[in-house]
Amino acid sequence: MSTIDQSVVDQDYVRIFDTTLRDGEQSPGCSMSMPQKLTVARALCELGVDVIEAGFAAASPDDFAAVNAIAREVRGSRVAALARCTRNDIERAAAALEPAEQGRIHVFIATSDIHLAHKLRMSRAEALESAVAGIELARQYCSDIEFSAEDASRSDPAYLAEVFSAAIEAGATTLNVPDTVGYAVPGEYGALFAYLRQHVRGIERAILSCHCHDDLGMAVANSLAAVQNGARQVECTINGIGERAGNAALEEIVMALRTRANHYGVGTRINTQRLYPSSRTLISVTGSVVARNKAIVGENAFAHESGIHQHGMLRNRETYEIMSPEDVGVSRSQLVLGKHSGRAALADRLRELGFELQEAALNQAFAQFKALADKKKEVFDADLEAIALGSTGTE
Ligand code: KIV
Ligand code: ZN
Repeated sequence: MSTIDQSVVDQDYVRIFDTTLRDGEQSPGCSMSMPQKLTVARALCELGVDVIEAGFAAASPDDFAAVNAIAREVRGSRVAALARCTRNDIERAAAALEPAEQGRIHVFIATSDIHLAHKLRMSRAEALESAVAGIELARQYCSDIEFSAEDASRSDPAYLAEVFSAAIEAGATTLNVPDTVGYAVPGEYGALFAYLRQHVRGIERAILSCHCHDDLGMAVANSLAAVQNGARQVECTINGIGERAGNAALEEIVMALRTRANHYGVGTRINTQRLYPSSRTLISVTGSVVARNKAIVGENAFAHESGIHQHGMLRNRETYEIMSPEDVGVSRSQLVLGKHSGRAALADRLRELGFELQEAALNQAFAQFKALADKKKEVFDADLEAIALGSTGTE
């Protein structure tokens, strides 16, 4: 058995555990072939995620092959494989991870009474025993073991603390607290982390991790509440893809921690300029687009249409932007010319297009632009060029 990998626990920063290729792939319309998974894994590596969850090796021969190929190729990020607490799952995960530079076996079992009664048909004591046996078996193959208590947010906190204490004793160094069904709210989920930090024996030897689903639209808020209460690993996906309403969106968590560093006081090691390119890579692979108004990576995230906003932006970007587009890999902010836009934005765009109009010509161009904008959602450069050429300033 290899010795426990202490580097997993040391150092105070938020580890980004990306599960786009496992939980994300479980979202309808997002399944990926092996070459597509490799493309996404390469993007994740460039993004600098700490852990890439490559898949559930025992699920199918294709899943095994994908985890194995990613483990062989990826260097720099850890590669994790998911397994239930069964011998077959754990041995398949270990075999798939064999070529990894840094592998992690991620074992899980449910701990809520509802899952124990209806899904596992196990008592609490049996589930705890199964968790310990699974972790001990996984430790025979790997020095880095993560344990997840599925449906943790609906589990009895005292029982959860017992299971986690036993998990640490058995050799797990990351303890994940999934909000599997997206039921938690931030105050309550944060309080659960505070409780676990107080009641789990040996917690100083482990990292607490959050894993939030977005059924009530609170996955990111819940993850940030967990970080405020000591979570130092966040599990998330690019563009927030995942089961049902999805998982917490990686780009939103990373940029919230960075933009509000004064509030959270702890950051990630993500290369933020790769956020937008990674989002586009995933979209091109899955064909699953994001909403225009999606935070950070949506088409409108750095677009300004109203005249008042555009005027402010032209004076100083900080009037209406809390982060710069370049920081997330978007080339620049856009002043979209539509019916809400003002003269300053029009003059600015015309200047960019090579037209320096005098006062009277600009007035004429602005009147024509407004008339056109009333008919169209967006006025394009070709429209503007035609307007500028026809605006002489004389009636
Ligand atoms: O949502 C969940 O509980 C999971 C676990 C398997 C980590 O995805
Ligand atoms: Zn999940």
